[in-house]
Amino acid sequence: MDRLLVTGGAGFIGSNFVHHLVDHTDATITVLDKLTYAASRESLADLPESRVQLVVGDIADSATVDPLVAAHDTVVHFAAESHNDNSLSDPSPFVQTNIVGTFTLIEAARRHDSRFHHVSTDEVYGDLALDDPKRFTEDTPYHPSSPYSASKAGSDHLVRAWVRSFGLRATISNCSNNYGPWQHVEKFIPRQITEVIDGRKPRVYGDGLNVRDWIHTEDHSSAVLAILERGEIGETYLIGADGERNNLEVVRAILRHLGRSEDDIEFVRDRAGHDRRYAIESGKLRSRLGWQPQYADFDAGLAATIEWYLTHETWWRPHKDAVEAFYAAKGQ
Ligand code: NAD
Ligand code: TYD
Repeated sequence: MDRLLVTGGAGFIGSNFVHHLVDHTDATITVLDKLTYAASRESLADLPESRVQLVVGDIADSATVDPLVAAHDTVVHFAAESHNDNSLSDPSPFVQTNIVGTFTLIEAARRHDSRFHHVSTDEVYGDLALDDPKRFTEDTPYHPSSPYSASKAGSDHLVRAWVRSFGLRATISNCSNNYGPWQHVEKFIPRQITEVIDGRKPRVYGDGLNVRDWIHTEDHSSAVLAILERGEIGETYLIGADGERNNLEVVRAILRHLGRSEDDIEFVRDRAGHDRRYAIESGKLRSRLGWQPQYADFDAGLAATIEWYLTHETWWRPHKDAVEAFYAAKGQ
């Protein structure tokens, strides 16, 4: 694991992972990223050029992908279209990037016998009822609800089939909802932080009782690195940090941290097909690979994230109006 190719490394989780690699390994890293609306060159700007190079290109373009995969020993695949609400408006780039892009990468990894790690989501398992005592495990059947989660499920199945049929040296991780610095303002936590900063009310879908299992992106990074270093080929690992909160609890915490009334909430039209609850049982990752989350205190992690958005307004401000216009057109 000396030369890593990190796809989607200019996005939210990918860029945090590249920082984590620079801080915790000696690897040299090439980021392959198409620089879609979700990417940010700035998120990589402080990294040493001797360690990190950015190649702008599409994971679905075999002519770009093949020589890059050949020149690295390990591929860590984060690149994706990642937002459920966008997938409901236009599923097409989700199928193209998440399914065709993953196919293109694993074909190259097969040709060059590369170590491959596929980053996926717990949303492939569908949702749980609020009162269900169960959580998702590696054995939970796939049951995706949205075009986004269906496209990620499709990509997971391709990787599994390439392991079994072609001996691809791959692992898969399915992680719960991430929060932390550099997350696009279209996503729930940054949208609500920036709405409150702008003096407006957080916008909560439906009754606000939907539960997400929040994990700090730094804990996601350390888990992916543990899988790369110690994971068993062909295995899937669920990544979670026991962070179940409903959306109302999260927006109330944001309002509290920013000195506003916890009742200052606007309930808006619910998302079509909105998953009720996600919850991860991450015992396999913890017991087999010895991984532990470091950001166990969600409230402290959220406070640090709010502080980050307060001090990085020049980064998120250029995207804010377009994001709010998109939601406003949908009554959200
Ligand atoms: P993001 O949208 O912030 O970043 C995605 C990155 O991929 C962007 O930099 C974008 O430019 C790049 N990209 C998109 N299409 C591309 C293409 N065709 N070729 C090359 N690059 C392309 O997403 P994120 O939230 O950082 O998610 C990263 C990965 O983690 C995704 O695979 C996602 O499914 C998974 N994941 C996300 C979460 C979460 O809470 N955000 C949770 C679990 C898993
Ligand atoms: P999101 O960040 O889009 O992640 P995901 O859909 O992948 O879980 O949304 C997290 C939760 O917040 C989800 O239940 C939808 C809800 N939500 C709102 O209530 N209001 C919003 O403005 C957004 C963007 C999301």
